[in-house]
Amino acid sequence: MTMLALAPLSAIPDNRPLRVEHDFLDFVLVRSGDDVYALEDRCSHGDIPLSEGELAGCLLECWLHGSVFDVRTGIPQTPPAASPVKTFPVTIDEVEGTPTVFVEIG
Ligand code: FES
Repeated sequence: MTMLALAPLSAIPDNRPLRVEHDFLDFVLVRSGDDVYALEDRCSHGDIPLSEGELAGCLLECWLHGSVFDVRTGIPQTPPAASPVKTFPVTIDEVEGTPTVFVEIG
């Protein structure tokens, strides 16, 4: 199991997605209350960062064609996207006293 530390928990704003670029994959982190979700930062319909979309609760809308994804599952709720966006299990652990978001990538 490989875990990546992506960002301090405090870096994720409420009601706005946070893009985190990594060597081989870019992530979008979403905070909803006490819960944090991590997805690949790429719409399944096109090569568009979902982090540039609008967030409403657990729903993230791609700005290009308007597909809405449930950040808990990555499943599109509206067309034209038909495939889910990859999601990653999230854990919060302290790093030098700072709550930090980790994702499990395999
Ligand atoms: S690129 Fe996201 S819905 Fe088309």
